[in-house]
Amino acid sequence: MDDFQNEEIFIPGRPKPRTVRYVGMIRAAAKPIGSHSRSGVEQEPDRQEPSSLAELNAWLKEIKPMVHGGRRAVLGEGPIGAPLALVGEQPGDQEDLQGHPFIGPAGRLLDRALEAAGVERQETYVTNAVKHFKYEQRGKRRIHQKPTVSEVKRYRWWLMKELEFVHPHVVVALGATAALALTGAPVVISRTRGPAQFGPFRGFITVHPSSLLRQQDDAARAASYDAFVRDLKKSARLAA
Ligand code: URA
Repeated sequence: MDDFQNEEIFIPGRPKPRTVRYVGMIRAAAKPIGSHSRSGVEQEPDRQEPSSLAELNAWLKEIKPMVHGGRRAVLGEGPIGAPLALVGEQPGDQEDLQGHPFIGPAGRLLDRALEAAGVERQETYVTNAVKHFKYEQRGKRRIHQKPTVSEVKRYRWWLMKELEFVHPHVVVALGATAALALTGAPVVISRTRGPAQFGPFRGFITVHPSSLLRQQDDAARAASYDAFVRDLKKSARLAA
C-alpha cells in the first residue's frame, strides 16, 4: 500500500511554496488519472491561489476526474463556518447523476442519524474526500470502486483547501477513506474512532454510514447505528 510519505503535495500548515511551484502542484494534483509526470509537479504560468470557496469550486468543476468514472465533480454543500463538516468517501451513483453529496442510500441513513443526534443537516457542511464517482461499468450498472491511496492523495489538496475556506469547528471523518485523506495516513477505524486532529482542524473519526448497511443482522445493524448516532452527538458537542 502506498502512503503519503515523500509526496510533493501542498499540505496546509507548511510554508507556502512560490506561486509558480504551488500552481504547478495544483495542476499536477488536478491532472487526470494516468497523466501524472514522474515528479508529480508540472510548471505552468501563474494562476493565483483561489481566494474563495466559489473560486476553488469553479476550478474543481474544470478538472478532469482523477479516478476512472464520474462525469462531474460533486461539490461540498453547506454553510461557511458550519459547526460540523462531514467528510465522506466519494460521491456514489445518485450523487454523480444529481450533483449533490450524500443523497443516495448512505445519504438517507446519514440524514436519519443526524436527525436522531439533533444535528441539522442544513447547518452542516457535507463533502467528500474524492470529488468524482469512481466506478466500473457492468452492463447497465455502475459499480462503486474504492479509491486507491494515491487517488485519495491526489484530491487531498482540494479537500484541505475547501476546509480552510469553510473553517468548521469540527471535521468529522466518515470512514477510512475520509480519515486517510484527513490524517494523511491509512487508519483502522476501530482503533482510531473518536476525537482526532486533522492538521489545523479539530476532528472526529467515525464509521461510514454505508458500513451500517453491511451489518449481518438486525441486532448488529441497530447497535452500529446507535454507536454512529452517539458519535455524531459527541462531534456536535465538541463543535459547540
Ligand atoms: N455518498 C457520498 O456523497 N459520499 C459517500 O461517501 C457515500 C455516498
